[in-house]
Amino acid sequence: MTSIAATYWEEARNLRLAGRLRMADPQPEALGLTREGVLRRAVGLTLEASGCTSPMGSRCRVETSGGRWVEAEVVGFSGERTYLMPTAHLDGLLPNARVVSMRQKGEVAVGEGLLGRVIDSDGVPLDGRGPIRAEGWVGLAGVSINPLMREPITRSLDVGVRAINAMLPIGRGQRVGLFAGSGVGKSTLLGMMTRFTAADVIVVGLIGERGREVRDFVEATLGEEGLRRAVVVAAPADRPPLARLHGALRATAIAEYYRDQGLHVLLLMDSLTRYAQAQREIGLSVGEPPTTRGYPPSVFAKLPALVERAGNGADGRGSITAFYTVLTEGDDQQEPIADASRAILDGHIVLTRRIADSGQYPAIDIEVSVSRVMQDITDAPWRERIRKLKRLMSAYNAQRDLIAIGAYQRGNDPVVDEALARWPAIQHFLGQDVHEGADVEASRAALAQLLDGV
Ligand SMILES: Nc1ncnc2c1ncn2[C@@H]1O[C@H](COP(=O)(O)OP(=O)(O)OP(=O)(O)O)[C@@H](O)[C@H]1O
Ligand SMILES: [Mg+2]
Repeated sequence: MTSIAATYWEEARNLRLAGRLRMADPQPEALGLTREGVLRRAVGLTLEASGCTSPMGSRCRVETSGGRWVEAEVVGFSGERTYLMPTAHLDGLLPNARVVSMRQKGEVAVGEGLLGRVIDSDGVPLDGRGPIRAEGWVGLAGVSINPLMREPITRSLDVGVRAINAMLPIGRGQRVGLFAGSGVGKSTLLGMMTRFTAADVIVVGLIGERGREVRDFVEATLGEEGLRRAVVVAAPADRPPLARLHGALRATAIAEYYRDQGLHVLLLMDSLTRYAQAQREIGLSVGEPPTTRGYPPSVFAKLPALVERAGNGADGRGSITAFYTVLTEGDDQQEPIADASRAILDGHIVLTRRIADSGQYPAIDIEVSVSRVMQDITDAPWRERIRKLKRLMSAYNAQRDLIAIGAYQRGNDPVVDEALARWPAIQHFLGQDVHEGADVEASRAALAQLLDGV
């Protein structure tokens, strides 16, 4: 049996030897040289390189045929192998290609010049209006704020949509999910809020959605006037997964930059589901195990990491109010991304196909939508009216089928009777044209008018 002293002696000797070996093999990085790696494998989306020692999250360049380079990010390693994920399409990749560490982490150029511009996930302008002058750099991954330092949510934010302003009041610095199946009106509602929200700067992340919609959003929804106070980051569906992931991170980093200048920022992300799906593609291709509906565990870590970056700044330093659209596949509210998002957001607005199909827009389902900061930004009479309208609507909806076929007998339930009498006015109150705004005061007055007739 070895004595304790002998074990210590061995350890000390090993440390000495390791030190000598390091001296014999100097790190090229320490001498200002770059250690090049070699591309060993490229299957699906992942690249495997050997011989390069880049830290997680750092960038490498991979040589392709014709002397071009593509950028890739280190997303994992196993033994001597480094796993890389490209940020662009991989045409012309060759076996044993050179892999050179760029010794830099993802950074985002920021500055006044960004306002009014449309950029891609790498910050390259897409609008053909020349280069953007950077005044500074911020990290793609952001800096987390001490939760005790964050300013609490105490002020309401005017989003210009009556149903939301009156029934689901949004606070400055709140993070809200917009949940709906496909084609129910998420993007259109975001567009309305872009036009009418009282914010200093609007940052829009169009992540993984249709490329056609980018132009639509910039030209039709924002228009010249709206674009002046907006920055659009576009990483549509045809971009590689890492580019889509970076698009969301870049949009958030830009919003953080403006918030730290003391400005009130509106961050719109369309969509959070596509962001999660991009991470799913990456996680699965580097060998993570799939869990619920094929989503690997890293997805459920990346979601809060992104969402937690929005919100109020530390003591009085601006705010980011964020809206994230969440696709509920097949109108399934229990879908894992929808479920995870609901748990980390401060409120959810649900759009329902039934309401959209009846021609009522925005198709907000007031009964199941929740704003978790309502208590802090509304007074008692206002909350009482919200409760009353919800009661009327749920009583009506419980009898909807009977009412539709004329089988409901008036007098059975006084609440249903009242709902029935007020129904056309309720529909009128909740509906709103996309080109018409309704501020908080007007929305609140309309709610009072609807219920009290004052
Ligand atoms: N406020 C509205 N007024 C009138 N029509 C609307 C409104 N909102 C949505 N629509 C109709 O619904 C269609 C789909 O809307 P939108 O693209 O906003 O849905 P989406 O939920 O973003 O869809 P996807 O999931 O495919 O991205 C629109 O093309 C439009 O015809
Ligand atoms: Mg959409």
